[in-house]
Amino acid sequence: MKSLVVASQKGGVGKTTVSLHLAHALAARGYNTLLVDCDPQGAIGLSLSRKLTRRAGFKEYIDGNEPLPQLIINTRVPGFHLLPFGHIAPTDTERFSSILATGDQYRRLLYDADQLGHDLVIVDTPCGFGGITTGILRVATHMLSPIQAEPIALRSVTQLLEVVQSLRRQGAEVELVGFLISMLQLRQTESYSVAQEVWEKFPPDLLFTANVPRDPVFLEAVGAGVPLGMLRQPPPPVAHVFDLVAAELEGRMGLLQTRQTDGPQPLLD
Ligand SMILES: Nc1ncnc2c1ncn2[C@@H]1O[C@H](COP(=O)(O)OP(=O)(O)OP(=O)(O)O)[C@@H](O)[C@H]1O
Ligand SMILES: [Mg+2]
Repeated sequence: MKSLVVASQKGGVGKTTVSLHLAHALAARGYNTLLVDCDPQGAIGLSLSRKLTRRAGFKEYIDGNEPLPQLIINTRVPGFHLLPFGHIAPTDTERFSSILATGDQYRRLLYDADQLGHDLVIVDTPCGFGGITTGILRVATHMLSPIQAEPIALRSVTQLLEVVQSLRRQGAEVELVGFLISMLQLRQTESYSVAQEVWEKFPPDLLFTANVPRDPVFLEAVGAGVPLGMLRQPPPPVAHVFDLVAAELEGRMGLLQTRQTDGPQPLLD
């Protein structure tokens, strides 16, 4: 079961935005996708609908209180399913993180998601590499990390590479599928020079060809509680970026074999 974890050391770099839009783009490409919110802040729910923040989800599943099918929310987009975070008392997060830290609970989730017919699980994580995220990375197949195009962004990349190396030494198979430059402002000197440094220093196989620009339309989409692709018809041009990243991910994650709709689609009856 392929699973893509969106993670970063630094907060506010675009993890939730990227996970939501990639899940939407991959579902639109024919993958039965489950987007799992592992952030105790319930960020996916907050960006979509207040109703979602009241639903049980990942937390209740991990604690063994409810089976997965009862917790998954089917969206109006075929193949796009959500598991919100659920409810946690602030005093309970340490216990919850330690339960996840071994990876066994996430392995159980992947098994159940596979049984339910999902092709792919995408995970939005809290910032940093605490127990929740490291536990998930022990079992996940792939990880993507957004880099915010801002001056201090590159400092946290070294820490991230160390975490991945250390997990792999301990037997994890997780592969860093790439860094995705986010909130890029090509006309702003500081933002552009960070991107330029990334393009110069990083090997091309660790970077996506597409970048996510900073665009106020993202806030508009959060306000409307939808991914950009569903904000209006035709969708704002920036929504296209996630189709490009999703297409690159297909190759990098070897997803094409998992899709059930391969082959030419008939044009006429
Ligand atoms: N490309 C973009 N252009 C404009 N605003 C953006 C863009 N990407 C994200 N944002 C906004 O920036 C804020 C932070 O983004 P997001 O919540 O995706 O980051 P995060 O890495 O998940 O944060 P956290 O570490 O707190 O979980 C949000 O208000 C989001 O709507
Ligand atoms: Mg987030």
